[in-house]
Amino acid sequence: MCGIIGYAGFRDVVSTILQGLTNLEYRGYDSAGMAIQDNGKIKIYKTLGKLINLKNELEMKRNELKHPALGIGHIRWATHGSPSLVNAHPHTCTCGRLVVVHNGIIENYKELREELIKKGCKFRSQTDTETIAHLVADEFSKTKDLEAAVRNSVKKLQGAYAICVMHQDVPNIIVGARKHAPMLVGVGEGENFIASDTPAIIEYTKKAIYLDDNQIAVITKDNVKITDVKGNEIKKKVEVLPWEPMALSKMGYKHFMLKEIHEQPDVIRNSLNGKLFDIDAPVNLKEVKLDKSILKKLNKIEIIACGTSLHAAMVGKYIIENFAEISVDVEASSEYIYRKTTTNSSTLVVGVSQSGETADTITAIKQAKEKGAHVLIITNRPDSNMARLADSLIPVNAGIEVSVAATKSYTAQLISFYLLAVHLAEIKGCIESSYLKNIKHELIQIPTKIEEILSDTTAIQECAKKFSSYKNFIYIARGVNLPTALEGALKLKEISYINATGYAAGELKHGPIAMLDETMPVLSIMVPGGITYEKVLSNSEEAKARNAKLIALTSSSDKELNNLFDVILKVPHVNEILSPVLTCVPLQLLAYYIAEFLGKDVDQPRNLAKSVTVE
Ligand code: AGP
Repeated sequence: MCGIIGYAGFRDVVSTILQGLTNLEYRGYDSAGMAIQDNGKIKIYKTLGKLINLKNELEMKRNELKHPALGIGHIRWATHGSPSLVNAHPHTCTCGRLVVVHNGIIENYKELREELIKKGCKFRSQTDTETIAHLVADEFSKTKDLEAAVRNSVKKLQGAYAICVMHQDVPNIIVGARKHAPMLVGVGEGENFIASDTPAIIEYTKKAIYLDDNQIAVITKDNVKITDVKGNEIKKKVEVLPWEPMALSKMGYKHFMLKEIHEQPDVIRNSLNGKLFDIDAPVNLKEVKLDKSILKKLNKIEIIACGTSLHAAMVGKYIIENFAEISVDVEASSEYIYRKTTTNSSTLVVGVSQSGETADTITAIKQAKEKGAHVLIITNRPDSNMARLADSLIPVNAGIEVSVAATKSYTAQLISFYLLAVHLAEIKGCIESSYLKNIKHELIQIPTKIEEILSDTTAIQECAKKFSSYKNFIYIARGVNLPTALEGALKLKEISYINATGYAAGELKHGPIAMLDETMPVLSIMVPGGITYEKVLSNSEEAKARNAKLIALTSSSDKELNNLFDVILKVPHVNEILSPVLTCVPLQLLAYYIAEFLGKDVDQPRNLAKSVTVE
């Protein structure tokens, strides 16, 4: 999705903004642009495609810039109007003296646009953003006060926005404002920043002020002022950002995705840290703020999420129902919001999100809160909007995830669900403590078992090479690994653009089997000793009988499997109920190596954004 950085300070303005945008690049975009205040003039640079094009353009035109004083930059993920130069940000008012960059969607832009055209404004793009430029310029013409102009304008906007505005006649300031889209101010010494997300500024400062909805920030190189919608100054806490700049380095790996896959053992250790270390002690999940007496009686949980987080939620349902005997509904946030749910004050609603900024999930959470539900958020971004809506917050501590394809955040979400399920089971006392002890013991072993998978990926790489030319795949599983099949197929789709479908193995013969032949490989996830093993094996036989090429993902060492499967990928043995944390890893790697082998842009797949801030 779009990204913003504004900078005023002593550093080289152009390269500081370019670096900020580079650090936001992972979010996904199709064009980039920058506006610089230079020698009393605003100069605008825009390019299509990757940031390198903007870098080259600026290098070529560097001599045009005499004394760059401050500037704003943007990467755009097209919503209104195609990815084109004219639609790229920054946008200007008719005279070109005012510039704006914007994240979000202005819902009433058509009405505003018509009014502004009647007033004589000349529109050049198809974007909703350009309306903001004309609107603020119109207000500025009345007062000559940029901050007041932004304040008066945003009152007229409906929808979501994080904006940065500069005006040629007010040379030293950048004005920012937000509603339903994240924005923070980075505080430095002799420099200040304004950005849509932490990575844009983390190389320069660890001190930040998070803007709330309807707040306005004015930054100069020496000053930061935050005001409310009426113009009253607000004293806000300067927070210390929880990230290290190192998190944005590939650390020798070819791609962030591969680095993040390899970080999983440590991420899991981190997630367990302080919560589960002694199998004889109860799981310590003080993050769940509901009273024990309420948790004991809890009989309904709703989990809402999107994409990979939705798959984690599906595993969550399985294990909470299994360990804690509480009925759980899981739904895509984008569907939940249109349903007349039975959510009420005795429902626990769990929102799951890596970014904490997914618009559909935020809307769903707000709806649940309005109905009086207690909202528990599981997120990798304790500094996000979603985290701020939480009544209870479980931060998954996976560290910043740069690759668009979620990997380590998924395993960390799974661990949070295991901890939550065991915690609820312990409070309810509904399951034998010896069983829970075994589960806890095995959970503690998981990082070492993932290390075992990661220590030798040769078989996965060979499998990737062998199958990289196939155009369609089916991944099958049953029970707790059905979400693993869905997630494995999603990973393959999103980074290699190969059509892959996750399917409940038992459903194969109710339709999809008609598609099977030698051109469609079937990957079966089978955990020996588990309740689904034999059945998935039979379903694999059915696929073999239709000439499908077969890949097994299993811990079985049964030699007989060699007669059935073309390739067998191994994971260490684990209890079936915990196996999703292991089985997802070879599938992440398989998707990675297929995409890498096909020469795809692994970390920034086409059309995708890291955090989807529009509904
Ligand atoms: C994951 O690989 C995807 N890029 C995507 O499905 C993602 O999981 C989804 O957009 C939800 O994001 P969130 O976890 O940040 O809410």
